[in-house]
Amino acid sequence: MTHSYFNDNLALRDPLIFKALADEKKRQQGQIELIASENSVSQASLEALGSVITNKTVEGYPGKRFHGGADFADVVEQAAIDRAKALFGCEYVNVQPHSGTQANQAVFFALLQPGDTVLSLDLASGGHLSHGAKPNQSGRWFNIVSYGVHRETGRIDYDNVEALALEHQPKLLICGGSSYPREIDFARMRAIADKVGATYLVDMAHFAGLVAAGVHPSPIPHADFVTCTTTKTLRGSRGGLVMTNREDLFKKLQPAVFPGVQGSAHLATIAGKAVCLGEALSDEFKTYGANVQANARLLAKVLQDRGVRIVSGGTDTHVVLVDVSSKDLTGQQAQDALSAINITSNKNPIPFDSARPSEWKGLRLGSSAGTTRGFGADEFAVIGSLIADIFEAQAADEATRARVIEQSRATVARLCGEFPIYA
Ligand SMILES: Cc1ncc(COP(=O)(O)O)c(C=O)c1O
Repeated sequence: MTHSYFNDNLALRDPLIFKALADEKKRQQGQIELIASENSVSQASLEALGSVITNKTVEGYPGKRFHGGADFADVVEQAAIDRAKALFGCEYVNVQPHSGTQANQAVFFALLQPGDTVLSLDLASGGHLSHGAKPNQSGRWFNIVSYGVHRETGRIDYDNVEALALEHQPKLLICGGSSYPREIDFARMRAIADKVGATYLVDMAHFAGLVAAGVHPSPIPHADFVTCTTTKTLRGSRGGLVMTNREDLFKKLQPAVFPGVQGSAHLATIAGKAVCLGEALSDEFKTYGANVQANARLLAKVLQDRGVRIVSGGTDTHVVLVDVSSKDLTGQQAQDALSAINITSNKNPIPFDSARPSEWKGLRLGSSAGTTRGFGADEFAVIGSLIADIFEAQAADEATRARVIEQSRATVARLCGEFPIYA
């Protein structure tokens, strides 16, 4: 192999990809990130993700690999396992799932046969695609029954969950989701699962970092399986974890991940997971988690004070689910309005919403990435005002709207300049 193969940098070797990555970095530096599933990983995580361990093929688990040369792979994966156990206080962890979806898929594969019944939160109420949405494998291969939330409170209707469980006798009961902003009554769900003999899975992908920081109750003492992503509030590289305190279930899980639904481990990603799990064990992360939660609550309050309806009336997590129809907007219009002032967000269904994305009334906001950047109460109060201003400007004349956009963009640029990332 020529010398250049090992020494040319990306700019020289692939200018197109180099430029796209440089532009993406600039975008992240210059925009306020409010997508609830996003965050900014540490420089240490980036180094782990870009390391030569990506070259290594291993199948199996530490100490029991199918390939030679796995000594350092074992060090990395064992560190991720040990840190996840310490962080979440659980007995058994699999750190190999390539994503949150594959973590859930592995649990399905470990427990279920095609056609079995699963009871999970419906998408509009905040559930996730991998919990049984029709276009996902989970929705195609299993009999999915969905529970929802109370129309008035936006909170899970536990009586309805129990009634559905008794009627349909699911093999698996799932809670957790992508846009459910409230704490879940894990003990009540456990009791429902026990009544019908269901296995109980909590997907804490969104709030895992808050659990790690000790500012949100942990599902670990209640659930049979807990899955999560290492992105989002946990602030790490993309990927999934599966945890359990039951040895019998762990024995089913290990072969379900490999060779059940995956092949070789993605070691660079696992190294990134190990780094973020190590970071999450620090006191600094506890402060971070508390700030994420406080900032989300403040953002919800500022918007409410400006006449914007917040689904469920507030939040217990980093997620603020906004009903933008209270400002005569669709989710798409709200997302576009924020994009115009360099604030990134995503349209989302709200409970009882249309199935058509173009008609969704919701906008999902999250405080995790902004908090990582260093934004505190003052900055989130400004962000809330910017959002309310731009919503209201949609009904104003063109000149007024243009003025609000210009001023808001300047404020966003100032905030991003004061709180730089990857400088
Ligand atoms: C609750 C929940 N579970 C699973 C996932 C899937 O994670 P991934 O995108 O890594 O497949 C997400 C992602 O948003 C999620 O919100």
